[in-house]
Amino acid sequence: MKLACKYIDSCRGCPLGHLEFEEQKNSKKKKFTDRLNQAFSVHALAQTEFDYVFPVFDGYRTRCDFVYAEGRLGWYDQQKKFLPIDECPLHARPLIEFAKELIKISWPIRLGSMRLRISPDGKSGVWLDLANLDTKYILSEPKYLTSLFDAGVVVEMGQKGKRVVKTEKGFKLSDPEPYSWFQTLFNDKIVPLNALISSFTQTNPDLNIRIVKILKTFLGQTSFDSVLEFGSGVGNFTLFLSEYASSMSVIENDFRNLIPLKQNLEQYGLTDRVAIYENVNTFVLSKPPIGKNSLYFVNPARSGVGSLFDSPIDANHVMYVSCHLDSFLLDTAKLEHQGFRLSKATLFDQFPHADHFEILSYFLKY
Ligand SMILES: C[S@@+](CC[C@H](N)C(=O)[O-])C[C@H]1O[C@@H](n2cnc3c(N)ncnc32)[C@H](O)[C@@H]1O
Repeated sequence: MKLACKYIDSCRGCPLGHLEFEEQKNSKKKKFTDRLNQAFSVHALAQTEFDYVFPVFDGYRTRCDFVYAEGRLGWYDQQKKFLPIDECPLHARPLIEFAKELIKISWPIRLGSMRLRISPDGKSGVWLDLANLDTKYILSEPKYLTSLFDAGVVVEMGQKGKRVVKTEKGFKLSDPEPYSWFQTLFNDKIVPLNALISSFTQTNPDLNIRIVKILKTFLGQTSFDSVLEFGSGVGNFTLFLSEYASSMSVIENDFRNLIPLKQNLEQYGLTDRVAIYENVNTFVLSKPPIGKNSLYFVNPARSGVGSLFDSPIDANHVMYVSCHLDSFLLDTAKLEHQGFRLSKATLFDQFPHADHFEILSYFLKY
């Protein structure tokens, strides 16, 4: 089985897309195990349980960041030239249809970014990240936004993720307003998760539920005195993690995630049990109650956890979810020096045809 895509030779999104899917899987498995074997001692890997999950081939993405130029949506190609894309085989059908509707509008923009989202309940949303002058002009001329509003599309604009609202006097920007753009697992039920269109979420809500289920099997019946979560985003994993301890601390520094995070904690009755820190320093200064029977759960951006593992950590349990193998290995080498061993390692491929994958891992100190 091979990806059918007319852009395969020029688009940068799918560098492995010219391979048969079986070959892709084998090359990712090999990369994963080879790099882990190089990075860790035999001792650290002696009892590791490995698993490899390839849950999806195409048609799954429900959000996409496009460049808008030349009246089209697209991306930059391998030569960094704008490549207009009619449709991407990785996108879910509603996302493809929404993109087609969006470019019927003659946007008065030379260059800008548009993030498109489809929610689990089928709502469409677009985040227009444009030059200030373009934003002002689009708000002042009803013809650009009216058809979107008539079709029930949610529109956010600008770096602050402000919601566009329609008033008697026309369109204007209002405070960011989260909507259930995503879903997660809480108390073993699939529940809506509030986010902004401009917030971080994983690639697809159903794959996300599968990730949470795997992480829950890692933890089994364990319970912790406390959980520290680094990179909580809008609270995607915070909800299920709260089932394992009576108190939690989360570190998250992006206000586009913090706004919905606070709303999600309130909606699910967790405000009193979860303390939020906006950076590692304020977390450290607060001297939170992290002891041996605590869990560090980290899901950082590609750059990794920064200084979080530089000094010895008090907890005996670390769960690390990563989409970037290099920073994962750099960070977890520090854990090995502190006496941790890798107990579980799952390659969860939520990026088919790309050369990266999600790593779900659980480290224990003996
Ligand atoms: C890969 S996302 C994961 C978000 C969330 N766990 C989820 O599954 O949706 C990484 C998150 O880490 C946050 N982050 C990155 N660097 C950070 C830092 N230095 N301090 C706190 N949060 C950070 C980002 O804003 C982002 O929300």
